[in-house]
Amino acid sequence: MVNLIVSSLLGLVTIGLSSKMLSWRKAYIVAKSTKFPVFSSPVHLTDIWWLTLYTLLVPFLNLLPKHWKTPWLPMAQVWNIWKFGHKPFQEAGTDTFVLATPQGNLLWTCDPSVCSQLGTQHPKSQIAVNMLKFFEVYGPTVGSVEGDEWKSHRRVIVSGFNPSTNAAVWKETTQQTSALVDRWLEQGSIVPVMKHWTSRLALHVISAVFFRKSLDWDEYTRDFEPAPPGHQLSYEQALFTVLARLGILYVTPRALLGILPMKCFREAPKTKSILAVYPEYQRKIQGDLDRQQNESPQEERSVEREYQTFQNGWLGAVLKEVLRLYCVVQFIPRVIVAPINVVDSKGETHAIPEKTLCLLNFSGAFQNPGTWCRRAVSAERRAELHDSPALDFDPSRWLESGDVTAAGESKEGNAPLLFPFGQGPHSCPGRLFAQVELTAALAIFLKNHSLELVVDEQTTRSCGGDEKTAWKKTRDQALITLVDGVESNVSLQLLKELPILVSKRSG
Ligand code: HEM
Repeated sequence: MVNLIVSSLLGLVTIGLSSKMLSWRKAYIVAKSTKFPVFSSPVHLTDIWWLTLYTLLVPFLNLLPKHWKTPWLPMAQVWNIWKFGHKPFQEAGTDTFVLATPQGNLLWTCDPSVCSQLGTQHPKSQIAVNMLKFFEVYGPTVGSVEGDEWKSHRRVIVSGFNPSTNAAVWKETTQQTSALVDRWLEQGSIVPVMKHWTSRLALHVISAVFFRKSLDWDEYTRDFEPAPPGHQLSYEQALFTVLARLGILYVTPRALLGILPMKCFREAPKTKSILAVYPEYQRKIQGDLDRQQNESPQEERSVEREYQTFQNGWLGAVLKEVLRLYCVVQFIPRVIVAPINVVDSKGETHAIPEKTLCLLNFSGAFQNPGTWCRRAVSAERRAELHDSPALDFDPSRWLESGDVTAAGESKEGNAPLLFPFGQGPHSCPGRLFAQVELTAALAIFLKNHSLELVVDEQTTRSCGGDEKTAWKKTRDQALITLVDGVESNVSLQLLKELPILVSKRSG
C-alpha cells in the first residue's frame, strides 16, 4: 500500500516536472524568435513561492558560478531592481534580453528606444494589470485596469489636473514649506529622517488641493480630532493611517483588511539629502533665486513664469538629476496582447510575440554608463563608497545639453532620453503636479535657508579635531547611506537615518 502511494506520488512529480520542462523548452524556442539574446531562468517574476522565499534563498544562490545566475538572479529580486541599476545588462552584454522561464517569457529592457515603443504601442502593449491588483485596496483603480474601464478612470483623473490645480499646488506648497521650516528651526534645526517630513508635505498638498482640507504641522504633536458622528476615524486619522500602512494594506488579503486592528501611527525624492552632500549646488540654486528676485518685480511674477524660470536653471537641473539617479518607479510592466515589432537603438527590428511580459527597467536606462557620463572616480574609491549612485550626481549635464523640455525629457538628438514619468497614453497624469510641488518646495526653502550634513563629535575626534577631514568622512558615510539606506517597495525611499541640519542662509 505504502509502495503504491509512494510510486503514485513519484509518478505525479515526474509528470509535473516533465510538463514544466516542456513548457520551459517551448518558451525558450519562442524567446529565440525575438532575435534578442535569450537566457534561461528557473523562476518567473510573479511566482508566489519565489516572492515569499527569495530573501532567504538569494544568499545561497549567490554562491553559484556567475554564468549560472546571470542575469536572471538580479532581475528576479523585484525589490532590488534599482540597486542593480544597469549592471545586469552590462553583464549580459545587451540592453534588452529575454528570460525564458517555465511560466512564460520575460523581456527585460533598458534600451530607451524599445522602452518608448513598448510604452506608446497601446493597445497592443498594455499595462500588466494582473501584476498590479495589489493597488485595489478600495476597488479598481486607474493603475490596475485596462480598456474602457481604464479610459473612464483616466478621464476623471485628468479632469482634476488643470492650470488652476498648478496654481493651487504652488500656493499650498509655499505656505506648507514655510511653516515646516519654522517648525524645524523651533525644534533644534536637526532633522533626523527627512523623508518623514517630505512625505507628509506631499500629503498636505494633495489634501488641500484635491479635498480642500488644509492640514497643519501641529497634527503631529496634538491628539487627533474625534471622529465625526457615524464614522470610526477622523479625516486626519484615516489619512495618516493609510499613509503609514500603505505597504501592509497592499499585501494584506482583502478579506482580512476589515478585521485586522491597524494601530494608528503618524508618520519626495531624496533631493534634500543629496543637496546636503553637494552644498555647491545649493549655492548655484540660491544664485538663480537671488537673480530672479532682483530681476522680476513682484507684480510680474506668476506661477507659470516662476516655475518655468526655475525649471530652466539650476533648480530644474538638480530635480532632473535626482529623478535620473533615484527614479521613483524602478520599472513598469507591459503585456503584449497582439504581436508587435520594435526597433532597438541599433536600428535592428525585433518581433515580440503575444503574451510576452515586458519589463521596462527605468533604473537600468537612467544609470547606463554608456549613455550617462559617470564622474571620474577610481574603481577602488567606488567600491569603498559601495558604488553609490549619488557619486555620479552631476546636474550641470542638464544645462550643458541646453535642450531639455520642462517634463525632464530631453529632446531627441541632444541629451539622452529621460522618462521618469513614463511615456504614451498611460504616462503619469500627476507629472506637472509633482514637478510644480518639488520646484516650489525647493525654491521657498533655499531662498533663506541651507542644508548641511551633521558632523558628530566622535567623527571630529577620530579625525584629530580636523573639521575638514571630519566633514569629508561624514560625506562619505552619507554617500553610502544614499545607496544602502534606500529601499524600494511601491516607490523608492530613503529609510535609514541621515540627519540634516537646517540653518538660516549665511551668504
Ligand atoms: C516624482 C513623482 C512621480 C513620478 C516619478 C511618477 C511616475 C509615474 C510613472 C512612471 C507612472 C507609470 C506610467 C506608465 O505606466 O507608463 C505613473 C502613473 C501614474 N501616476 Fe505618477 N509619478 C509621480 C507623481 C504622481 C503624482 C503626484 C500623482 C497624482 C497626484 C500621480 C498619479 C499617477 C497616476 C494616476 C498614474 C496612472 C496613470 C495611468 O495608468 O493611466 N503621480 N506615474
